[in-house]
Amino acid sequence: MIMPPFFSTWWDTQAAMAVTFTALWLLLFLLAKGLGVQEAKRLRFLGVLLALQILLGLAATAAYDPAAKGFRALPFLAGLLGVGVGMGLFNSLVLGLLLGRFQRSVPTVLRQVLSMLALAIGAIVMLAHQGLDVKALLPTGAVLTAVVGLALQQTLGNLIGGLSIQLDKSVRVGDWVLVEGLYGRVSAIRWRSSTLETNDYESIVVPNAQLLAAKLLVRGRRGGEETAWRRWVRFRLAFSAPPAEVIQLALQALRAEPVPGVATDPSPDCILVSMEDGTAQYALRYWLSDLVKDDATDSAVRLRLFYALRRAGFDPALPSHQVTLQQPSPEGQQAEAKARHEARERALRGMELFAKLKDEELSGLAGELRELPYAPGESLCRQGEAADSLYILEHGRVSVQVASDGSEREVAQLGSGAFFGEMGLMTGEPRNATVRAIEHVQALRLEKPAFQRLLLRRPELAEAIAEVLAGRRAQLEQTRESLDQATRESRQRQHRGQLLERIRDYFGYRG
Ligand code: CMP
Repeated sequence: MIMPPFFSTWWDTQAAMAVTFTALWLLLFLLAKGLGVQEAKRLRFLGVLLALQILLGLAATAAYDPAAKGFRALPFLAGLLGVGVGMGLFNSLVLGLLLGRFQRSVPTVLRQVLSMLALAIGAIVMLAHQGLDVKALLPTGAVLTAVVGLALQQTLGNLIGGLSIQLDKSVRVGDWVLVEGLYGRVSAIRWRSSTLETNDYESIVVPNAQLLAAKLLVRGRRGGEETAWRRWVRFRLAFSAPPAEVIQLALQALRAEPVPGVATDPSPDCILVSMEDGTAQYALRYWLSDLVKDDATDSAVRLRLFYALRRAGFDPALPSHQVTLQQPSPEGQQAEAKARHEARERALRGMELFAKLKDEELSGLAGELRELPYAPGESLCRQGEAADSLYILEHGRVSVQVASDGSEREVAQLGSGAFFGEMGLMTGEPRNATVRAIEHVQALRLEKPAFQRLLLRRPELAEAIAEVLAGRRAQLEQTRESLDQATRESRQRQHRGQLLERIRDYFGYRG
């Protein structure tokens, strides 16, 4: 094989380059064990480039023709690839790994510019080495300079834009930005442009110069620090709803049960924004911790709000300029009220607890029930709370959960027609369990005074009720303490007597 005469220069350089780069690549490979997917991919790509460069170097040597003059493509390409691989290794080793150890980073744009400069210089040096007149290739003449200058103006603007954005850290990859009406998460800042990814799975490529020139809004960051982003959920109510009560209710709706995505610190607040068009406009403001889920979290907050307002009997207000032309007739309203009353009566009749009640007693009690809607996940009552009301499930399922050893365990699920809270109603004891809605729930609530009136008239009802209560209490204890069946039954008998006493004391009568 004829060796090129510049063996001592080009070939030597080529061989030394191949050996050094291979050694560096291997070093990187050893060091880079814990690297992320992206870096591992880059390392593999560099390995392929390196192999290609060595192959091209060998091919250039094999194809060497001492008689050939002028531009020789193979050695030129091998050299250029060498510069590329060299820059790649430098980027990964020095700028990536080494600086990474000291928690420093070099902007991607600067890396790309450095690589391009190295490639350009490498190309010029190699062309000059092959005896080509490089100067002749460069544009000459004032007109050409002006044309090239103009063409480069925008590119340079973008380049400088990208560099300054990264250097002053005004925008970082991962930031949520609003620029000229476009909103998205910055997924990459490159030498010419940056990419924003929207929540609707779109990618927007924005030239860096534009990013720099436009007014830019970075969400969820203040004073360089990451923060949650405040969202405003507005709603309107009629003036008849007392604002202080509404505000308290709205806050309670968010605080009672955490909503995923709503930060607890800073905590939500609620303000009365305006009073116009015959309505009061409120804003429930909360801090969104996961910026990807903006609309979904707004929706979850609105859902909570809706149910809380409905339970309190506040309906959304209609702006006063809207004219309601249809009004239900008094007969229609009466028929609806009657149907609702009958439904409540049916719910009471199905309860073992009230099996001994006469029809007119049931009907009287049905008139005292309050209808309350609940959203999935909301609790209807919480363990440990003092309470004196009973719930009947008109629609929907709930889960009865008992906290023990720091965790909550489900002891039962109840569906339409079932009741709970009887222990609180009958004895005034703190709630024994937390009852949570599994799906949309419509509950009927019976308060102590209504029931007290009935019990004073029919004291013998207390015995039947004590029987049911004792059964449930024994089952709760069986779950908590893993009791066997015999112990459970003996406890049930014990409870029956004690409960009867307590009910009599609580309702203030002696049977
Ligand atoms: P109270 O203690 O007032 O509030 C929580 C309610 O959960 C409780 O009344 C019962 O009505 C209900 N509850 C407790 N344990 C059970 C159970 N094992 N099965 C069904 N309901 C229960």
